[in-house]
Amino acid sequence: MIDRYINNIIQGDCLEVMQDIPDNSVDITFADPPFNLKKKYNGYRDDRKFNEYLKWCKQWIHEMVRITKPTGSIFVHNIPKWLTYYAGFLNETAYFKHWIAWDAPTAPMGKSLQPSHYGILYYAKDPDKTKFYEIRYPHKRCRKCNYLLKDYGGKKAGLHPFGPLVSDTWTDIHRIKHNKYRDKHPCQLPVHLLERIILMSTDENDIVLDPFVGTGTTVIAAKRLGRRFIGIDIDRKYVNITIDKLSKESPDSKIENIWVSFYLDEIVTIRDIDWAKLAQYFVIPENIKDIDFTKIKPRTAEKLPRLTLP
Ligand SMILES: C[S@@+](CC[C@H](N)C(=O)[O-])C[C@H]1O[C@@H](n2cnc3c(N)ncnc32)[C@H](O)[C@@H]1O
Repeated sequence: MIDRYINNIIQGDCLEVMQDIPDNSVDITFADPPFNLKKKYNGYRDDRKFNEYLKWCKQWIHEMVRITKPTGSIFVHNIPKWLTYYAGFLNETAYFKHWIAWDAPTAPMGKSLQPSHYGILYYAKDPDKTKFYEIRYPHKRCRKCNYLLKDYGGKKAGLHPFGPLVSDTWTDIHRIKHNKYRDKHPCQLPVHLLERIILMSTDENDIVLDPFVGTGTTVIAAKRLGRRFIGIDIDRKYVNITIDKLSKESPDSKIENIWVSFYLDEIVTIRDIDWAKLAQYFVIPENIKDIDFTKIKPRTAEKLPRLTLP
């Protein structure tokens, strides 16, 4: 039953489409729904009544949990206000893992603190079976000299050569600012945000489903990383943009046979378990004890092989 949806983008109401998908059949679900902030979408009207919006959210969240496998995870992205309700819905049928704070400044909203993060709720379907891979991001470096920006309290000798483990606060991934990188869509997410989520929670060939796929961020990340995908959006125009973009992508976000996430040709996320194999692609002094970690410079990814599959 699920086969006809795999590696497809479906134009339709995500509730109806998900209701046609069997229990426990996809590996992860990721949703970035309309935030009910009167955003100007092509067709969808983003201004439901408060209770109506929440009632609707509860329905699709319930479907997301139902169709996710016991080994899988459920991710929902939104502003903190709505996530406080979503957590209540999710706590009924899934298990809280994290509230990821994605550091992304937004416009001032009057008499309030300046909103400075979006949240991504991260739930497991079954906490004993869930797949999870620790991930790392590169040390922050001076753009000019390439040396590490932090001195890590004099403990540099113990540092990981590539970079720290990713915590629940993500400060290194920025919203898409330049119009040249944007589609005609008011809230497109950066692909490497989704690549990080996918590397952390799935294996090659796993199925990633996004019920509000917009112009395709999640499915493009999935395809680049050799995962299968299902994308749903109510708007034909966004579905067509996604299909067109997908046709130009291939599963090539890898070094040899190791899946990694790139942004502008730099590696931005790796799995901790892959470091042993990846280390050969970085310039690391031989005697680890004598290393001045401020002086380790990774080769840029341009010089790394990027394989393209047929
Ligand atoms: C916040 S946007 C998602 C953007 C997406 N993450 C991206 O990076 O392009 C929400 C999307 O939900 C779609 N949408 C609204 N109601 C829907 C429904 N009932 N079923 C499926 N999609 C819907 C809208 O057309 C819009 O593209």
